[in-house]
Amino acid sequence: MTAILDYDPSAAETLRSALGAETVVIPTVDALRRHLDTHLGEDAVVVGGSVDLESALDLASAMRLTRSSLGVVLVRRRVDTSVLADALRAGVREVVEERDLPGINAAVARVKALAQSMRETVPGASLPEDDLDHGILVTVFSAKGGCGKTTLSTNLAVALTEGGRNRVCLVDLDLSFGDVAIALQLFPAHTIADAVALGDGIDSGSVQALLTPHSNMPGLFTLVAPLDPGSNRGITADLVRQILNILRQEFDYVVVDTPPAFDEQVLEALDQSDLIALIATLDIPALKNLKLTLETLEEINFPREKWAVVLNRSDSKVGLALNEVEKTLRVPISIQIPSSRDVPAAINRGVPIIYDNPKHPVSVAIRQFAEKFVLTGHHTDSSIPPELRSDRRGLLRRKAKTS
Ligand SMILES: Nc1ncnc2c1ncn2[C@@H]1O[C@H](COP(=O)(O)OP(=O)(O)OP(=O)(O)O)[C@@H](O)[C@H]1O
Ligand SMILES: [Mg+2]
Repeated sequence: MTAILDYDPSAAETLRSALGAETVVIPTVDALRRHLDTHLGEDAVVVGGSVDLESALDLASAMRLTRSSLGVVLVRRRVDTSVLADALRAGVREVVEERDLPGINAAVARVKALAQSMRETVPGASLPEDDLDHGILVTVFSAKGGCGKTTLSTNLAVALTEGGRNRVCLVDLDLSFGDVAIALQLFPAHTIADAVALGDGIDSGSVQALLTPHSNMPGLFTLVAPLDPGSNRGITADLVRQILNILRQEFDYVVVDTPPAFDEQVLEALDQSDLIALIATLDIPALKNLKLTLETLEEINFPREKWAVVLNRSDSKVGLALNEVEKTLRVPISIQIPSSRDVPAAINRGVPIIYDNPKHPVSVAIRQFAEKFVLTGHHTDSSIPPELRSDRRGLLRRKAKTS
């Protein structure tokens, strides 16, 4: 059911008929609180345009702490950036203009899907947050473009959900050309660019409000890149640090897709990573870039046990033998992903191959990587294998130390 809070009976009636039969109209905030106390399965509250902003935001803040699976959709006569920023800070999931009835309907559907997903994957999602453990952060990186970072990160994220048993957040840090949303066929209401407006008010609720849940894959959430390359201004390394810190508190696994460059946001992700998957293909430019990356990590004393080399399209007949590559780079290849035309075909359909065809050799290789290097079954600190535990010194601080 969906609860509608609106002081104006005729506006409430318009919302009720737009949202369909499974709704209840509630005329006051107190009555709404009593209703929520006795209807624990309620997933969505629509706060109508007649309700003052302060009461609406108070309600959203209170619900965020006591009922994190319940989503508040705020309906306003006019939506501007200051309303959006205040609403996000308070933990409102969606803000929609009053006249956009299909938009309100879609927002409620998204909020309900998110609540469903949270219930399926986190027992007690409606209880106050008391989880002080942190999840494992895996960054997929290669300094050369087109090696398969997005392919690996999207499929790895799906593998780590283990069919909904784990909560996984995939973050697209390719801030100019990120295509995670396309690869997973998502229609995000928010992107990482919306975090800029949160300023000092950034916290768990406001970051979670920016996530897009995957409708078919329970447990999988994404924080997508800005939809146009120009909107990444203000997404600083410091903001990325705060976002990743928060997501690690909330999720069992956080997977970060990156651009093909060591920019400051990527360095921040590497800094917090428990594991870096360094991906390359069997061609000289990719291997040269991998070698330079390895040298850079060595130079800044990044712990050897925290990275693994993934060779994508490893069966490509390009005249380079695998053992020669290992000898030249002086590192073992942790996993080989074969080449297959089914990979671009899956991306074009917007469905990760590991979900579409779990027995495909590409899916098997990625699942093996997940099982051998990332999955631990739990996400408490003590259950993280020692080699994956993040030491708290940090990459950038290490860098400063060695320079
Ligand atoms: N194992 C594979 N077999 C066949 N094609 C693949 C394989 N892995 C990736 N590809 C294809 O290679 C192209 C680049 O892959 P992807 O987008 O994952 O790379 P990327 O490293 O994220 O690129 P960018 O640096 O541009 O973000 C895509 O068209 C993808 O379908
Ligand atoms: Mg990519």
